[in-house]
Amino acid sequence: MTEKHIKLGLFGFGCVGQGLYDVLNHSEGLKADIEKICVKDKNKKRKIASKYFTYDKEDILGNNKLDVIVELIDNSADAYEIVSRALSKGVNVVTANKKMLAENFESLYQLQEKNNVALIYEGSAGGSIPIVRNLEEYYDNELLSSIRGLLNGSCNYILTRMELENMDYGKALKMAQESGFAESDPWLDVAGYDTLYKLILLTVHAFGIILKPEQVLALGIQNITFDDITYAKEKGLRIKLIATAHKVGDKFRVYAMPHFVNKESDLYNVLYENNGVEVEGAYSCKQTFVGKGAGSHPTGSAVLSDISALTYQYKYGYKKLKKMEAYHKGKVDSAKFLDNDFEIKVYIRFSHKDDLKGIEVVSIEEEFKSAKTNYIVANVKFKSLFFLKGNRDSKLFVCAV
Ligand SMILES: NC(=O)c1ccc[n+]([C@@H]2O[C@H](COP(=O)([O-])OP(=O)(O)OC[C@H]3O[C@@H](n4cnc5c(N)ncnc54)[C@H](OP(=O)(O)O)[C@@H]3O)[C@@H](O)[C@H]2O)c1
Repeated sequence: MTEKHIKLGLFGFGCVGQGLYDVLNHSEGLKADIEKICVKDKNKKRKIASKYFTYDKEDILGNNKLDVIVELIDNSADAYEIVSRALSKGVNVVTANKKMLAENFESLYQLQEKNNVALIYEGSAGGSIPIVRNLEEYYDNELLSSIRGLLNGSCNYILTRMELENMDYGKALKMAQESGFAESDPWLDVAGYDTLYKLILLTVHAFGIILKPEQVLALGIQNITFDDITYAKEKGLRIKLIATAHKVGDKFRVYAMPHFVNKESDLYNVLYENNGVEVEGAYSCKQTFVGKGAGSHPTGSAVLSDISALTYQYKYGYKKLKKMEAYHKGKVDSAKFLDNDFEIKVYIRFSHKDDLKGIEVVSIEEEFKSAKTNYIVANVKFKSLFFLKGNRDSKLFVCAV
């Protein structure tokens, strides 16, 4: 427990910023004062006194008396500018911005090394589940073979409401937004990008490779219908948007897409906005972490824990990354370790056969045609699914079997 009051500069006072404010006010151990909060909209009504707020980022970035800068805004480019300037000045930063981190990981890693400064981001993946620090510290010497998880609270919430309450997709998405689980741009959630960004962060800490978002496949749930839910139910399965990174030989298969999950899986009963992460290692075997994956207070609590960690000079050691660099005698070209060249069994629901153009089907195991819906269960070339990533025109629903 520290006696010193640490001084915080906060960017963003939305869902997570306000959550942090609440949990900080109820914290019994950590003594931290928010000196200033930088926000964007001058006309917005605020819950706390106006003296806290500024609209000029220099009021925080130019203040040399701050101990920590906490970045909780919803814009990746602005966040990168804020975070990189703070790190360059030697100021420790806490963020929950997975998009900004995943898009700029290599340069943010270099900035930390160069300036001997900490950038920590537990709230950016898995919400309140302490997965980043566990991968970094607990599994530092474990030979991990796989991480697999439900990392997006909004998608899991939508899928659960559709399956258990027959709720329409649009209504479930709206409720996720109203509850503060969804990103400001919900496309990032439902098209699988948010899951992808988190997966990229976990892959750094689990395996020591820095992948770029454009190298990794992400498919979402934006085209799901009750036909897909019914198909799964009839087989005793649930549909979950799953991020996976697993080792095959000396390469890694890393992707995020819907999967059918059976009752034996620990992830089957992870419902609503909860997240779950399975970590599998050579000696530790399989362990599953479950907890609130999104929302104001759970994420605020992860941010608070990061601020607290900074009071005892915590920073990520990037142990797996450094081991890779030491083994390969320098910077690692992570793309060389990514395997996108394999076959995968998928369920594909479609309206017209032409919609399947572009997907390299190796063999079909099941086929169903009706006036209302069509699907195939087929082995396909994984690489050929990339054209569906972020494709707003396609109406296909693709789910790993
Ligand atoms: N919501 C969750 O459950 C959750 C969970 C994990 C991680 N995250 C991450 O946490 C971050 C914040 O998410 P959120 O849900 O709290 O977003 P939010 O509710 O939309 O709030 C965003 C805040 O950022 C401020 N802002 C935007 N651009 C700014 C700029 N250039 N300078 C200063 N302030 C700026 C906004 O100002 P105004 O108030 O003036 O509009 C607002 O206060 C995001 O990176 C998100 O991915 C969210």
